Amino acid sequence: MQLTVIGAGYLGLTHAVCMADLGHSVLALDIDPDKITRAARGEVPFYEPELEALLRKNLAAGRLQFTSSYRDAAKFSDVHFLCVGTPATSDGTFDLSQINAAADALAPYLRGRILVIGRSTVPMGTGRRLGDRIRNRAPSTAEIEIAWNPEFLREGQAVQDCLLPDRFVFGVSSDWSAATLREIYAKPLARGVPVITTGLETAELVKVAANAFLATKLSFINAIAEVCEEAGADVIRVVDAFACDQRIGGRFLMPGIGYGGGCLPKDVRGFKAVAEHLGIKNLAAILGAVDAINLRCRSRVVDLTRSVVGGSLAGHAVAVLGVAFKPGSDDVRDSASLDVCRQLVLEGATVAVHDPEAMENAARLWPDLRYAASPMDAARGTDAMLHLTDWEEYRLLDPQRLGAVVARRNIIDGRSVLDARLWESAGWSFHGLGRR
Ligand SMILES: NC(=O)c1ccc[n+]([C@@H]2O[C@H](COP(=O)([O-])OP(=O)(O)OC[C@H]3O[C@@H](n4cnc5c(N)ncnc54)[C@H](O)[C@@H]3O)[C@@H](O)[C@H]2O)c1
Repeated sequence: MQLTVIGAGYLGLTHAVCMADLGHSVLALDIDPDKITRAARGEVPFYEPELEALLRKNLAAGRLQFTSSYRDAAKFSDVHFLCVGTPATSDGTFDLSQINAAADALAPYLRGRILVIGRSTVPMGTGRRLGDRIRNRAPSTAEIEIAWNPEFLREGQAVQDCLLPDRFVFGVSSDWSAATLREIYAKPLARGVPVITTGLETAELVKVAANAFLATKLSFINAIAEVCEEAGADVIRVVDAFACDQRIGGRFLMPGIGYGGGCLPKDVRGFKAVAEHLGIKNLAAILGAVDAINLRCRSRVVDLTRSVVGGSLAGHAVAVLGVAFKPGSDDVRDSASLDVCRQLVLEGATVAVHDPEAMENAARLWPDLRYAASPMDAARGTDAMLHLTDWEEYRLLDPQRLGAVVARRNIIDGRSVLDARLWESAGWSFHGLGRR
């Protein structure tokens, strides 16, 4: 099939490459000329394992092209995926200006029977309103339908998640759009990926509700971690016990400094605003608490660091391992780790950071942190070391070798994955959130 993908950011570029890899002929459009030029040269402007190799493979096969022309996009295909950003506004609601601008730019060029498929994360009702908006701006000969097919990819596993997701959700208003989506995804469907076919609003809701639920799990276990600290209990053993309970399970219950990134924080706040708008006060209260607990995790790490170095951070040197919001990504949007760094610096600490992939992005936001060439370099002369992004290489660090270069052997595990006994046997004081 011939498809366009509008918005070639994290989601859009991944989607365009994966659709080309499924055998479709894809034209990806973005208003950022730099993104288009780089992508057409085979460069991915962010770190995502496998994506660049797949981009180059599909460019070479002639299945993937890039443009910034809406006229060309409308000429190229009758099926358009909408993958632009939906960031938060200052009051926490979803900012739909990119979606509206893309729709307005595309509409005048549309002819014949057209399917616009939204993949961005949006509040319920967006697809329906977007359909009216495009119809009002398109020539009367165009017959326009909207579908919503939310994306669930996880950064760091984006290619696999896009090619072979846990499920597809098809929010449609006709058999024709459902059949078109089935044709587009024929290969993964043949491999058994389940499909939930539903209306537009349900499809939109599935995505925001799923992210809100994941965030709630994380904030719940982080609140339990705080209870553990007060009650002398150990949150890790609580999670171990949850994991054996088939009604609960142990996944997405990692105590630590909480969630960040370009999706969960803004989706929780956006969904809270939707709940308030709909008058569903209890849900709004839950989501408000989830957000507050999450932000509190960051200050609890700062509190712990302050107490570990002796009551005041002023004049102390701290090493921070990891600034990406999660391992496998160079994304520092709403990074919990960078927020902790900011708070440490505000209290007078000197902070040296290391990250395998995210240093450039972090340095653009916070040029005045010291960016170290290695964990060893970051650790040199520090009074406390904070493990804040769970990169595999940090789990493999040698506490003996690091112990030789620090001023004091204090390690704070903000991700609850390091082996406490290993660090303690090398003479470190090991601290975790909610740990005994
Ligand atoms: N990043 C993820 O892991 C992820 C996962 C699932 C869903 N999502 C959702 O996908 C959407 C996109 O997120 P993202 O992370 O890719 O954002 P992003 O900021 O990386 O990408 C958005 C892209 O849209 C482009 N754009 C903006 N206005 C445009 C216009 N009028 N016409 C064409 N292009 C335009 C921007 O230049 C940018 O390249 C959001 O709704 C997000 O919540 C993201």
